[in-house]
Amino acid sequence: MSTLRAFLGPVIHSLSASELEILPSALVVVNEKGQITAFEKHVTLPLGGNTIGADIQLHRLGPGQFLIPGFVDTHNHAPQWAQRGLGQGMHILDWLDGITFPNEARFRDPVYARRVYTSAVDGFLRQGITMASYYGSVHGEATKILADLCLEKGQRAFVGKCNMTRNSPNYYRDASVEESLQTTEDCVAHMRSIDPTGSLIKHVLTPRFAISCDPEALQGLGALAKRNPDLPIQTHFNEAEQEMTATMSLFPQFTNEADLYEHYGLLGQRSILAHCCHMTDYEMQRLKDLGCGVAHCPISNMTVGGGFMAAPVRDFMRRGIKVGLGTDSGGGFSSSILDAMRQAMIASHAREVASKGDDKGLTIPEAFYLSTLGGAEVCCLEAKIGNFAVGKEFDALIIGTEGADQGIMTMVEEQDSLKTVFEKFIMTGDDRNIVNVYVQGRCVMGQGST
Ligand code: GUN
Ligand code: FE
Repeated sequence: MSTLRAFLGPVIHSLSASELEILPSALVVVNEKGQITAFEKHVTLPLGGNTIGADIQLHRLGPGQFLIPGFVDTHNHAPQWAQRGLGQGMHILDWLDGITFPNEARFRDPVYARRVYTSAVDGFLRQGITMASYYGSVHGEATKILADLCLEKGQRAFVGKCNMTRNSPNYYRDASVEESLQTTEDCVAHMRSIDPTGSLIKHVLTPRFAISCDPEALQGLGALAKRNPDLPIQTHFNEAEQEMTATMSLFPQFTNEADLYEHYGLLGQRSILAHCCHMTDYEMQRLKDLGCGVAHCPISNMTVGGGFMAAPVRDFMRRGIKVGLGTDSGGGFSSSILDAMRQAMIASHAREVASKGDDKGLTIPEAFYLSTLGGAEVCCLEAKIGNFAVGKEFDALIIGTEGADQGIMTMVEEQDSLKTVFEKFIMTGDDRNIVNVYVQGRCVMGQGST
């Protein structure tokens, strides 16, 4: 039984936000631990045979196929899987009260949670999301079930029990600050027990947003973050005016959310801040200085919330603030990262016009970077995933663009370059073009999945 696998064929990945590498014939060698041990960028091998060397199993990509890194979803509400698309156009607090909280409350039932989360994790993997930063519901047991399922199905994930101690309905909130923090610690311990090295699964500290947390809850989570420096942190940040006004009236001692979350010890390199639609220069500078990452959710920004305006991504990138993409399933209508990429481009073109050309729209290579390496950076996982650099883990997708794999993607023609085929896939492909999904070298979806 060979211990190494080698993938041979066209490979496309980002080296940085501005450098997309398109290699028509490359070889990626993966060891039994799922690490990339060699990456040869220009390789031709004679046809026939599927071994190279005694102990390397060769996987030749088929006609029309190419390899890309797995997608990173930096902001995803797993319990909203069954409510995606509902409440479009509503303002954020009305949408939470009217649609989301009644839905998420159902996850008090572990049987229901397992059923929906099974479908959700399968659905996200099918769409090529190899790493997701999940918000769970308020419930400890359901959150543990979500973590168990990610591990079992082989998805890399941050999984967070949502902290909600106030301004949430009686039927859907933590019983007390103490209970909220205790349940969080239970979830942290559970995830450490199922994946002791945190190689795939980690708990992410998840104050839903300041509105739903008493100051003591934020304080307690900040203390937990300090005691557990390996744990990521996530929250919603400057999403919409309705939310920002309510936040400032609950915390009148602050004039902005950056100062608020920083005060409670929740801002730093491991913070993943969703939305960041309305940003002053001061707050952008704070995010940059503190090393926070932004989860840009261009679909939900334009469909639910009330801002109906997407974040200033070009400005973030210019300032060197880390940015990735989030589907925010629930808030948006799609949990496809391809859809998020397209909407990020559309929203950025609108911002280009609004800024009189100062903030240029995103290109396809940039949107692709945001959904792979940029997302990895936001999750502080760039040493592990995001592209095919030697030493990283093999989180990858085999994309198919011909025959049965073609789906409704724009037809590929003989004269098309690899760059053109890639562009057709990014703009018109969908999960039908995602043939195999690998996480840490394991095929978790598609032919040969275990
Ligand atoms: N702010 C607090 N909770 C949520 C949520 O579930 N979705 C979005 N989009 N914003 C939020
Ligand atoms: Fe969200």
